[in-house]
Amino acid sequence: MTTVRILHLSDVHFGVDAQLDQLEQIELFAPKLEPDAVVLSGDLTQRARHGEFQAAHALMRRMSQIAPTLTVPGNHDVQWWASPFGIRGTRPLFRKYRQWFGDELTPTLEVEGAVIAGALSAHGVSRGSLTWNLRDIAVKGHLPVSETDRLKAIFDRAKPGAARVVVMHHNVLPGAISRRMGLADPEDAQRRLSATGADLVLCGHDHQEGAEQLDGRLTISTSSTQSSRTRGRRASVFNMVEIDADSIQVQHFSWDRPTCRFNPADTASFPRHLPEPVVSVAGGDDPDARVTPPED
Ligand SMILES: [Fe+2]
Ligand SMILES: [Fe+2]
Repeated sequence: MTTVRILHLSDVHFGVDAQLDQLEQIELFAPKLEPDAVVLSGDLTQRARHGEFQAAHALMRRMSQIAPTLTVPGNHDVQWWASPFGIRGTRPLFRKYRQWFGDELTPTLEVEGAVIAGALSAHGVSRGSLTWNLRDIAVKGHLPVSETDRLKAIFDRAKPGAARVVVMHHNVLPGAISRRMGLADPEDAQRRLSATGADLVLCGHDHQEGAEQLDGRLTISTSSTQSSRTRGRRASVFNMVEIDADSIQVQHFSWDRPTCRFNPADTASFPRHLPEPVVSVAGGDDPDARVTPPED
């Protein structure tokens, strides 16, 4: 299988908190990392303003000169006040996002060796994202069943051996410092994400990087932020993810303020488990008449 390299940014938060010196360094550094794709997992803006979207769009256009790009909206990119609880439908929530990034909120990007599918977890003030904590209103997200069903259908059609990658905004695992989940019903979402056949989920929102494997199979990689709003005032981090036939490696790059550059920091490596190939023999659909080919 081809090795696939994905540059993963999140939470650039254009507006007063964006760290332009860091973003300039990433643009300079990115070609040397030779990514096959660049993803930005939401919170492009701070207040969903046109000027902020314009800056984010310009960044992604420049990154697309390096590799194909994919973006999904985060909770800060949703005009939640325009249609709380969907009283005016969902269209007003994403009016500005769509104006700059196109109608498709959940794009799919195919590169050699991988299918990268966006998923929508930012729904503004909606019933599925509500918790008993008032602080969570318009902050927490949720992953509807229709989204995981759609992802499964995409991954079922993917070529055997291709890496199946989900890009969504809200963190699927709790942050190491915040201990907060990004999703309102995280266990259910984790279970359904695992059932899609995905190898990897790329997410953000917590403003602290992380990488773990769920149930020994689904790798979850969280990117930090290129804004001043890092968790615990830690250094900003972006992630470089490399997927091959046997493993998924997440390399964090950490901002070094004195030298104004990103340096390699922690790396996490996880086994990748490809589904067992199954060959049908005489007997058609009879599952007892199937054999698994011997390993060579
Ligand atoms: Fe954010
Ligand atoms: Fe967020």
